[in-house]
Amino acid sequence: MINKTKQTSTAKLEVKGKTVELPVYSGTDGPDVVDVKRLYAEAGVFTLDPGFTSTGSCESQITFINGEEGILLHRGYPIDQLAENSGFLEVCYLLLNGELPTQPEFKAFSGRITQHTMLHTQMDRFFDGFRRDSHPMAMLTGTVGAMSAFYPGAMDSSDPEERNLAYIRLLAKMPTLAARIYKYNIGQPFVDPINDLGYAENFLRMCFSITAEKYVPNPTVIRAMDRLLILQADHEQNASTSTVRLAGSSGAHPYAAVAAGVASLWGPSHGGANEACLRMLREIGSVDRIPEFIARAKDKNDPFRLMGFGHRVYKNYDPRAKVMQQTVHELMEALEIKNSPIMQIAMELEKIALEDEYFVEKKLYPNVDFYSGIAMDAIGFPTDMFTVLFALGRTVGWVSQLNEMIEDPSQRIGRPRQIYTGAAKRDFVPIQERR
Ligand code: ACO
Repeated sequence: MINKTKQTSTAKLEVKGKTVELPVYSGTDGPDVVDVKRLYAEAGVFTLDPGFTSTGSCESQITFINGEEGILLHRGYPIDQLAENSGFLEVCYLLLNGELPTQPEFKAFSGRITQHTMLHTQMDRFFDGFRRDSHPMAMLTGTVGAMSAFYPGAMDSSDPEERNLAYIRLLAKMPTLAARIYKYNIGQPFVDPINDLGYAENFLRMCFSITAEKYVPNPTVIRAMDRLLILQADHEQNASTSTVRLAGSSGAHPYAAVAAGVASLWGPSHGGANEACLRMLREIGSVDRIPEFIARAKDKNDPFRLMGFGHRVYKNYDPRAKVMQQTVHELMEALEIKNSPIMQIAMELEKIALEDEYFVEKKLYPNVDFYSGIAMDAIGFPTDMFTVLFALGRTVGWVSQLNEMIEDPSQRIGRPRQIYTGAAKRDFVPIQERR
C-alpha cells in the first residue's frame, strides 16, 4: 500500500512577509522532498518548475533511480541482476505485483497473458485505414486508443479485478499489435500468435515468419529481444509515464491513457531517441567524421545534439546502456556480423565523448538508446519500428504506475498551475473600432 512517507523535518519559507512551515518527507532512498501541497492555501503563492526538474508528482514504490551513481532498481532489484537472471514476464509480474513470482504464481501469470494474445478481428480493419507508409508510432497511437472501444468494462477503475484484466490484456495484445504494424508497413500478411512460445519469441515470430518459409528461431536473438524489453520496462516518472498518470487521473479508460503515453514516447527527446541515434550513426558514416559531429554537438549555434547521450536523471553511465552494450556484442557474434561500421563508429564515439571536456563537464554519458538502436537493427527491425519496441517494453511500466496511482488515496486529478504573463483584463472592442 502506498502512503509510506515519513515526515522527518520541516522547511520554512518566507514569502510576502509571512513564514510558512512545510513538511519535509524522507523516502526509502533518494533526496528528501518538501511538501508544498498547502502552500497556496497558506501563503497564496504557487511554485514554478517548468520541466519538473525539482518537482515530484507522486509517491511511488515501483522504481528507484540514483542518477548520480547510475543506479536503477525495480522494486529494489538492480536492473543488471534482473536483465541477467530473469525474463521479461517475470519482470512484468514484479512491477505489477511488487514481488518476484513463485513458480506457481509465474505459471498462472504467464498462462493468463497467453490467453489474451489475440486481437478482435475487427481491430484488423483499422489497419486498412492507414497509409501503407504510415509511421509505426502513428499506427500504434491510433490502434492502442482504438482498443478501448472493445473493452468498455475496463472503464470501471474501482474494480481491482477489472483493472487487472485490462493490464493483462494490454500486455498480451501489445506484441500482436506491434507485429501487425510492422507487417502492414512491409506489405506482408499478419501472423497470429502461438501461445506455447515465450513472449519475446512469439513476438519475433509474428514479425519475421512468412508462410512461404520455415521460421528458424535464434536463441541469442530471442534473449536479446527479451532483454531489450526488460531494459525498457519502467523508468519512474518520465514524460510518457507522467502522461499516462495525468491522463488516467481524470478517470480515462486505461487503454486511452496508455495511448497518450505512446504519443508522448514518440518524440526524439524521449523514446524516439534510439531511432534518431541510429540515423545519426549512419549519417556519421565513418570513424574519421566523428570529430566533425562532436564539434557540432558542442557548438551553441548548431541545434545538433549527439543522440544517445545525456539524460535528465542520469549524470553517470546509464546502467541499462552497459547491459545493452554487452547484448549488442552477443548479437554481433551470434549473427556473425563482423566489422560492422555502425558498431565501430558507436564504440569510437563513446570513447571520444567519455574523454571530451564538454561531455565530461556536462555529465553527458551514453543512455540506453545509444546501444538499443544498434541491437534492434541487428535483430532486423527498420529504424521507424524502434520506438514501437520501446512502447512494447514500457507498457508494463505504464500500467503498473497507472494502477499505483488509482490505488493511492492521496491522488487527485492532475492539474498544474501557471504564472500568467499575458494581457491584463481589458474590454472587448468591436471589429469596426479596432485599429
Ligand atoms: N549533445 C550535446 N549537448 C547536449 C546533449 C547532447 N546529447 N544533451 C545535453 N546537452 C547539453 C545542452 O546543450 C545543455 O547545455 P548548456 O547547459 O550549455 O545549455 C546541457 O547539456 C544540459 O542539457 P538539457 O537539454 O538542459 O538537459 P535535459 O535534462 O533537459 O535533457 C535530454 C536531457 C533531452 C535527454 C538531452 O540530454 C538530449 O537531448 N539528449 C539527446 C537525445 C537523447 O538521447 N534522448 C534519450 C533520452 S533517454 C530516454 O528517453 C530513454
